[in-house]
Amino acid sequence: MKNCSWMATERFFEGVQHAKNYATFRPRPPEQLTERIVAYLKEKYEGQLDLCVDVGCGNGQCSTPFAHHFHKVLATDVSSAQIQVANALVHPVNVEFRNCTAESIPATAGSTQLVNASTAAHWFDLPAFFQEANRVLCSNGVIALSSYGLASHVFIHPAKSTELHQALFHVFYGELNVFPSQTNNKVWNIF
Ligand SMILES: C[S@@+](CC[C@H](N)C(=O)[O-])C[C@H]1O[C@@H](n2cnc3c(N)ncnc32)[C@H](O)[C@@H]1O
Repeated sequence: MKNCSWMATERFFEGVQHAKNYATFRPRPPEQLTERIVAYLKEKYEGQLDLCVDVGCGNGQCSTPFAHHFHKVLATDVSSAQIQVANALVHPVNVEFRNCTAESIPATAGSTQLVNASTAAHWFDLPAFFQEANRVLCSNGVIALSSYGLASHVFIHPAKSTELHQALFHVFYGELNVFPSQTNNKVWNIF
């Protein structure tokens, strides 16, 4: 079978209840992250910021923070449930949600200054995604891939804090590490 990692994720994220849980519980990115990405883009690119494409957008958690920097944000996700829930939420008017894959972006060649993927690229067919991102990006446009791991200050306990951290890291990066896909490991280790 052809390498279609998005097929599996479409099923994983397809439930509307799952998407609603996302809308309720998914953390928003820290403002500093969005500002850092835009600052980096401005170091590379001096023109006006017409279009940001946020792929694997979920319900738009990391799409809407870009809205005031760009003329338009195109937020896309392979899961129609995520997009359905996103469209039911209140977002800035210049954010448009579309149901499509990161490997096939509905934007014209050279039209985009920023392609962003937050905690999503580990699901993609990366060679196909990079080729597509390259197509839509303008000269000196930027791809931003971000993700999060475990914070080192989760537990506040007078005596057991270190022990609890070690146990959590052991479970997350040790025992559970048999489950992430190879792409997940690649995103963690390379980017
Ligand atoms: C972990 S969620 C991240 C959502 C959001 N970006 C955030 O930071 O909260 C990953 C999202 O990627 C989407 N996804 C997975 N594979 C995809 C693909 N190939 N193309 C587009 N979206 C994809 C899933 O449907 C899911 O909504």
